[in-house]
Amino acid sequence: MKNLNEKVIAITGAGSGIGRSLAIQFANYGSHLSLSDIDENGLIETKDLIQNKVNVTTKIVDVADREQVYAWAEDTIKAHQYVDCIINNAGVASVANIEDITYEDFDWVFNIVFYGVLYGTKAFLPHLKKRPDAHIVNISSVNGFIPTPTNGPYACAKHAVKALNQTLQQELRGTSINVTSVHPGGVKTNIARNSRAYDSQERHNERADQFDKIAKTSAGKAAKVIINGILKNRKRQLVGADAKVIDILHRLFPQRFPDLIGFLHERALRKIDR
Ligand SMILES: NC(=O)c1ccc[n+]([C@@H]2O[C@H](COP(=O)([O-])OP(=O)(O)OC[C@H]3O[C@@H](n4cnc5c(N)ncnc54)[C@H](O)[C@@H]3O)[C@@H](O)[C@H]2O)c1
Repeated sequence: MKNLNEKVIAITGAGSGIGRSLAIQFANYGSHLSLSDIDENGLIETKDLIQNKVNVTTKIVDVADREQVYAWAEDTIKAHQYVDCIINNAGVASVANIEDITYEDFDWVFNIVFYGVLYGTKAFLPHLKKRPDAHIVNISSVNGFIPTPTNGPYACAKHAVKALNQTLQQELRGTSINVTSVHPGGVKTNIARNSRAYDSQERHNERADQFDKIAKTSAGKAAKVIINGILKNRKRQLVGADAKVIDILHRLFPQRFPDLIGFLHERALRKIDR
C-alpha cells in the first residue's frame, strides 16, 4: 500500500504488544481501524490510547473460531464500508518438548497461530479484492524458518504461516493485493508471560524475565518496521537485528545452525539443573 490515509486496517490481537503498537501508529497515518482481540480489557486500553480522530471499531474475537472471524469481517464492512488491509497478528506460545506437550496444548497454539491466520486471510480476501490497493500482512517469526527447542507447536505453525504467505504471493500475482510475510526476532511483549508451560510459576516468571532481557526490539519499533514494509510492498519483512543475523546464519549453515541452537539450549538447561 502506497498511502495509509483514510485506509481501513483490520488487526487481530490488537489488545497488546505489536498489535496495539500497530493500531496506534496506523491511526497516526490517518487510517481507520477495525480491531479485534480475545482480551476485552486489552482492546479497550488500545482504543483509549488512540488519540487521533479516526474511526475505531473493536470486537472480541477468538481467531481460532472460524465463525467469529468471518462475522468480524462482515461487521468490519458494515461499520467501515470497505477494508484495505488485514493484519493477522494474534499469537500465543507454549513451553514444552514435543514428547511432553499434550495434544490439547499443541492444538491451542496451532489453532491460533496457523488457523487464526488462515481464517483471517480467507474471511477478508473477498473484501480486499474489491479495493484498488490492498494488503495482507501475516505475522510469522524467525521461528518460521528456524525452530527452537520447547517451542515446537509455535515453530510448526509459523513455518506454515510462511508457506501460506508464499502461496498467497504466487496466487495473488498481478492482482491489487500485496502480501507481506513478517518475521520478527525477539520483541519485548507479553508473549512469553502468557505462554503455557508445565513447570512452576516461579520458573515461568524467571523465563519471562529472561525473555524481556533478550528481546531487544520494542513493540513500537517492531510496528514501525512492519508499517514501513507495508508501504514498500515488501514480500518479506524481518524485524530486529537479531532476525537479520538469524536469517543469515540459517542460510549459510542450514543444518549446523539448528544443531548449534539445540546444543546451546541443552547447555543452558544443564546450568539451571546444577
Ligand atoms: N514478541 C516476540 O518476540 C515475537 C517474535 C516473533 C513473532 N511474534 C508474533 O507477533 C504477534 C504478536 O505477538 P506479541 O509479541 O505482540 O504478543 P502479545 O502477547 O503481547 O500479544 C498477542 C495478542 O494476541 C491476543 N490473542 C491471544 N490469543 C488470541 C485468540 N485466540 N484470539 C484473538 N486474540 C488472541 C492476545 O490477547 C494479545 O493481545 C504474534 O503472532 C507472535 O507470534 C512475536
